[in-house]
This record gives sequence, C-alpha cells and structure tokens, in this order.
Amino acid sequence: MSKKILVAVAWPYVNGEPHLGHIAGMNVPADIFARYHRIVGNKVAMVSGSDMHGTPTALKAADEGVEPSEVAFKFHKIWKSLLEKMGFSYDLYTHTHTKNHEEVVSKIFLKLQKRGLLYEKTHKMPFSLTENRFLPDRFVEGTCPQCSFSKARGDQCEQCGRTLDPTDLINIKSIRDNSTPEFRETTHQFFKLSKYNKILEEWISKKDQWRINVKNQSIGMLREGLKDRAITRDIEWGIPIPIKDGYKTKRIYVWFEAVIGYLSATVEWAKIQGDENLWEEFWLDKNAESYYFQGKDNIPFHAIIWPAILLGYENHNLPTDVVANEYLNLGGLDFSKSKGHAIWLSDYLKRYEPEPLRYYLTSIMPETSDSEFTWAGFVASNNNELVATLGNFIHRVLTISNKNFDFLVKPKKLNQKDREILQACDTTLSEVSNSIKKRKFRLALQNAMNLAHIGNKYIDDEKPWATVKINKTKASNTLWVGINIISTLRTVFYPFLPKSSDLIHKMLNFEDNTLSDGWKRKVLPAKLKIDKPTPLFQKLDEEIIIEENNRLLN
Ligand code: MF3
Ligand code: ZN
Repeated sequence: MSKKILVAVAWPYVNGEPHLGHIAGMNVPADIFARYHRIVGNKVAMVSGSDMHGTPTALKAADEGVEPSEVAFKFHKIWKSLLEKMGFSYDLYTHTHTKNHEEVVSKIFLKLQKRGLLYEKTHKMPFSLTENRFLPDRFVEGTCPQCSFSKARGDQCEQCGRTLDPTDLINIKSIRDNSTPEFRETTHQFFKLSKYNKILEEWISKKDQWRINVKNQSIGMLREGLKDRAITRDIEWGIPIPIKDGYKTKRIYVWFEAVIGYLSATVEWAKIQGDENLWEEFWLDKNAESYYFQGKDNIPFHAIIWPAILLGYENHNLPTDVVANEYLNLGGLDFSKSKGHAIWLSDYLKRYEPEPLRYYLTSIMPETSDSEFTWAGFVASNNNELVATLGNFIHRVLTISNKNFDFLVKPKKLNQKDREILQACDTTLSEVSNSIKKRKFRLALQNAMNLAHIGNKYIDDEKPWATVKINKTKASNTLWVGINIISTLRTVFYPFLPKSSDLIHKMLNFEDNTLSDGWKRKVLPAKLKIDKPTPLFQKLDEEIIIEENNRLLN
C-alpha cells in the first residue's frame, strides 16, 4: 500500500550562499530519502524554503546598510537556483516572506491564543545604548550558563545545543559593536511550552529509531525542564503580530514562525497542485509519516518546539523522525590556517559536475559524528569509485555487447553462477531499501556500490571478451546477466545519482524512465539492442587537489 511521506528539509538562513556543509547535512540525505520513497511508489511531498526573517539576515543587512528584504531575496534566489542545479527534487522550495506563510502563522498564533496557550508578560531584554534599540537573539553573544562556551548566542548555544534566552548569557555583548547592553523591560507574548514537558518526554522516549544524538539531546533538555518562551521580539523585520494594541513595533520570533514553514509550504504546494486540501493527506492522515532533515543545531526546534506548537494547535502529525546530522568540516592539515573558510557550492559547480559531489558527500555523510571533506578524498572517490568501479563496469559490459552482438537475447538456460548474480541484484535492492528506510545513507550507498564490485568480479571471472570467440551463447548469457546488473545499478543508484541513472536508462534503450520502472529488477525485453556507450563519469586530474587547496588558503 502506498504511504504518504513528508520530507521536511530545514530552511536555510539567507544571509549567505550555500556551502558544502549545508547541503551534506540536510539536502543530500533528504533528496535520497524523497527519491527512494517516490520510486517505491509512495506519495511524497518534499518541501522547504528560505528562512527570510532569521536574525542573521537582519544582521547582514544592518552591516551593509541595506533593507533586510534585499539581502533575503538576493540569497533566496541564489539558494533556489543552486539547489535545482544539484538535482534536489523539491516539490516546493518557497520562502517565509509570502502572504500564505503569514496567514498560516497568524492562524496558528490566534488559535494558540484562543486556547489559552499564550500569555503576555514583561521581561528583560538586552537594549543597546549605542544603537538605541533592543538586541534580540543573534545580535548578542555571551558565555553559556550550561557549558561555559564563550560565544553562545542569544537564542542558542552552538556548543551544547541548548536553547537560551539573552538573560541566560553571562557577560553579554552586542555582536554589532561589542558594547555591553543594558537590560530593559519589554512586553511580549509567551508560549506555554512548559505545559508539554511530560507529554514530549513520553513521546520521545518511545522513539527507538531516532539517532542517539537527537534523542539524548532532546531528552536532556526535557529532564532539565522546559521554560515558557517569548514568541515575539522587538525587531522590525519579520511577521507582524496579529494583536491590535501594543505590538506594532514587534514581530513574531523567527524560530516560532520558521518551523511553521513546513505546514505553510505544504499548503502552498497543495494550492499549486490545484487541490487546496491536498496538504491534509500529509498532516491529518494518522498513517502519514514525516521526516525532518537538518544539522544538529536545529534539534531542539524540531524535536521540542515544533511538536509543542503542533500539539497546542490542531493535533497535526508530529515528526516521525528528526534526522539531524553532525557537521561536515574541512579536513586536511592544509586547512588549519583557513579556519572559517568554506567551499561554496556555486564555486564547486563552476568547475565540476553535481553527481560526483552527491556521491562523495553521501559517502562521508556526518550521520553519527563529524566528518571531513578533503579534496583528495573527493578526487579519490570520483576516480576510484565512480569511474573505476561503477562507470568502468557499465562501460565494459556495454562495449563488449555492442562490439560482438547486434542484439542480446534472453538466455534459454542460466547456469548456477548466473542465477547467483541475479539473486545478488535482488539482495542489493532489498539491502539498499532497508538502509535508506532506516536513514542510514552511507550504508545504503555502500550496499549499492557493492553490486558494482560484484559485477566487476563476475565479468573478470567469466571473460565474455574471450568466450565470445569459442562459445558465443555463453558470452551472450554472461552479457545478458551483466545487463541485469546494470539495470539494477540504475535503480539502486537512482536516489543518489538520479542523472546518471537516467543516462544508464537511455543507454539501455529502455522506455520511459528509471522512476517509472519502480524499485524492482526489471524484466528485460526479449531482444536488447546495445549502442556504443558514452562514459558516465570523468576522471579528475590529481592536480586539482593542490589547486583547490591553494584556492582555500587564499
Ligand atoms: N534557518 C535555520 C538554520 O539555518 C533553520 C530553520 S529550520 C526551520 O539553522 F524549521 F525553522 F525552518
Ligand atoms: Zn552551551
């Protein structure tokens, strides 16, 4: 039976361009997961967009002396186009500065208010005497009361992951001019988060499929006890507060509204589909599943705050899983000097193809601990795995077939070895499937690549280029089995390397596309015509390792 799967990808701040760390941690795994679920026949909505009102964007605008909307829209366009170039298959990539998003946010705000889950309270917030304004969230830094990290921000400590209020920070400073703000009273709307402490703890403790880091961090925060949180701020850039009096110069707290983006984006997507109720399938149907992909600093917002909002609102589906990755660092000794540098996706795409990057980033995905990107690793993964293993296997089988046979026909009888190989194809399909379903993407990629190794070994052992001279039928049978492997590789690599999969599909002269063939070993046509193949992947010159490392140091 077909399932409904919401693939919810974290909304990037638009104060800058995407770098490889961003996409390794959220877009790559989300896309693998979404494509897998589509090809097995499930109904998928993969949604995200740009987090337009994030304080990093307001800060950047203040530094540059421009309006926040200018910065936000500029980087939104860049993000959107680069995500497309990478082949990430969003059903909708929108942003939070839309009418639709504002409507959904207001609706939720007013419903929570009506249910008595919001209350007004005056509390102290940092006020800059030099700039004559309040400094919310990321406008301030100080020492974390939990872990003593000296650069904790007003909304969260990056080191221990705790969500914070500016009043929690020790030795608070404005990051704008390093001045010490004064604490002044200001009135805000508070969400009764504390009310959900117990129910969230019970809910999360039953999640035995969640990654251990996600579970531990969330349970840790719940055990310490949740505090009610202000969900409005003294700031001009953001969503207006749907309260008549006293809130004109305030806006909704960005984390409160950004997470609502998952719901509002699904609503927007449904409207675009021409069926405005379509979003309900993903949020109201109790059998629907939802997976949230993000970096580890997002855990409290997705595992605690968003579920609490959902519980307070209309009992919409809670996350099935919060799939948070650790960080991808720039590795190698050479990079020690370049701390703080990043590899920008736009630079990468000027010089290289998307799919070798998708492959390498999956192979080093920081699923359970931080991992390192190195250019040497990238080149090795492209040359040894994509070119020499996967590409070479496919190229060999297709070349020998094309050279020696006008058509390959289905064998009358298969020998034991051939049957074992077909069995290995089926096993690979189920292994990759199980790994992806469990959100173990590195393992899934290894499962898929293992079939290419099996294929290479089979061809080495059977030597069809030699047997064709003495036993044409045997050679033909071997190649026919080889084509079965290629066809299966096409399927199992589809979630990871969709463009390459479709190229393989075309080279095999199959009708329609990989996706429409579904997740199974394809029954090959009785007669297969194989054209002269074109190489799938390009070998990279080792020289680029030095070139790229130099570029990073400059
Ligand atoms: N913009 C945030 C970040 O980059 C993520 C927001 S995810 C959302 O860390 F759910 F809140 F939208
Ligand atoms: Zn901390």
